[in-house]
Amino acid sequence: MELCGVTAIAWSKSISPTLHSPQTFSVWRFRRTRTFCASSGNDSAQSPKTDEMIVSITGATGFIGKRLVQRLHADNHRVRVLTRSRSKALSIFPGKKFFLSSTLSSYANYHFLIQEYKFYIYFFLFPSISFLILIVSYLPLTISKIDLLFLLLNLFICLVRDFPGVVIAEEPEWRNYIQGSTAVVNLAGTPISTRWSPDIKKDIKESRIKVTSKVVDIINNSQDELRPKVLINATAIGYYGTSQTRVFDEQSPSGNDYLAEVCREWETAALRVDKDVRLALIRIGVVLGKEGGALAKMIPIFMMFAGGPLGSGKQWFSWIHVDDLVNLIYEALSNPSYKGVINGTAPNPVRMSEICEQLGSVLGRPSWLPVPDIALKAALGEGACVVLEGQKVVPARAKELGFSFKYPHVKDALKAIMS
Ligand SMILES: NC(=O)c1ccc[n+]([C@@H]2O[C@H](COP(=O)([O-])OP(=O)(O)OC[C@H]3O[C@@H](n4cnc5c(N)ncnc54)[C@H](OP(=O)(O)O)[C@@H]3O)[C@@H](O)[C@H]2O)c1
Repeated sequence: MELCGVTAIAWSKSISPTLHSPQTFSVWRFRRTRTFCASSGNDSAQSPKTDEMIVSITGATGFIGKRLVQRLHADNHRVRVLTRSRSKALSIFPGKKFFLSSTLSSYANYHFLIQEYKFYIYFFLFPSISFLILIVSYLPLTISKIDLLFLLLNLFICLVRDFPGVVIAEEPEWRNYIQGSTAVVNLAGTPISTRWSPDIKKDIKESRIKVTSKVVDIINNSQDELRPKVLINATAIGYYGTSQTRVFDEQSPSGNDYLAEVCREWETAALRVDKDVRLALIRIGVVLGKEGGALAKMIPIFMMFAGGPLGSGKQWFSWIHVDDLVNLIYEALSNPSYKGVINGTAPNPVRMSEICEQLGSVLGRPSWLPVPDIALKAALGEGACVVLEGQKVVPARAKELGFSFKYPHVKDALKAIMS
């Protein structure tokens, strides 16, 4: 699904039957709706979302997180970006602005509004409110003054800011934001596609366990009425270890290498969440998209006519298009059947040589220059195992749940990404 960038403003109004009685309660709201052009496919096969969700996301500034935020925001859900760095998040989500009627609805948003918009509040909002009250007080009694006031205020705020409804919170504020959310998606972790030194290996594991434990502790220590109902926790197909011959599904045992150990401990940290919270552990495969992950590194090499399979080319490559992964997470947020372990991989894994061939063909470039194991090991150290050894992982649970993949075949996924 591609964003066309068309934004429409629609009005919604709830009015009590007795418009002019003293008890009149009337609220005007702008609803921002985004118009999307579905490039193809079966998005309508996923269950319709009517209820607004408030979703707190760690790692929202990353490759997968950004697409998830975009998707949730497009469907008018409220997103709370939990980050280590507000300035980084602001550079990624520059339009973190608000909508009056939803802004004042929670302490977290209120607090944030005051912090971030002091200038507008003191120099524009307060004087404008006073001015509007003055005007409204001179209007004839037949007009609902409260309606008019809300209308003018909303108009004013829309003129001052645009309102994407994304809230940004740094670590000390996470508690305030997680509490009161409908759901939490936990994607945070140090990237693994770097040269592994002992310190980086430690960080790869500890970053995931630390953030997951923090999120779980906040959820568990929340009062019942503020506790999120759902936790979607990322993990990875590295859980299964590697093999050229075996096929792994959600029932398969864990492997015995370093990444398997990381995934086990990561999942164990998430499994501590309160039993009343629905937990979905998404074991993510290699995510394909232009803006990040493995493909973003491969494309420039192929464009320079230097592409080719990494290592022997025989290793399995269990991939998923980023839009399918985001759809899977999105579905898991609202569908109560999505719980436990769910492999986030496409139904048709391929060998490394095949994906390189397909990528070359889509890019109009040859896939002829194999990168030997030794070169990768020199560049990535132990981290080379991520690309040199693979695993064939199938999404058995997603299929059981009736999840519909938009891109089941790698060629279509690559074509869509490069188009
Ligand atoms: N992409 C894939 O192919 C793939 C495959 C399997 C599993 N996964 C898993 O899915 C999750 C999201 O993947 P991604 O590709 O979107 O990752 P990414 O682009 O590397 O983003 C991860 C996010 O995690 C946060 N982060 C980074 N280092 C951290 C640290 N030391 N401590 C706490 N937070 C840290 C950052 O957010 P802030 O700076 O805003 O805090 C960052 O934006 C990761 O946990 C990853 O292991 C991804």
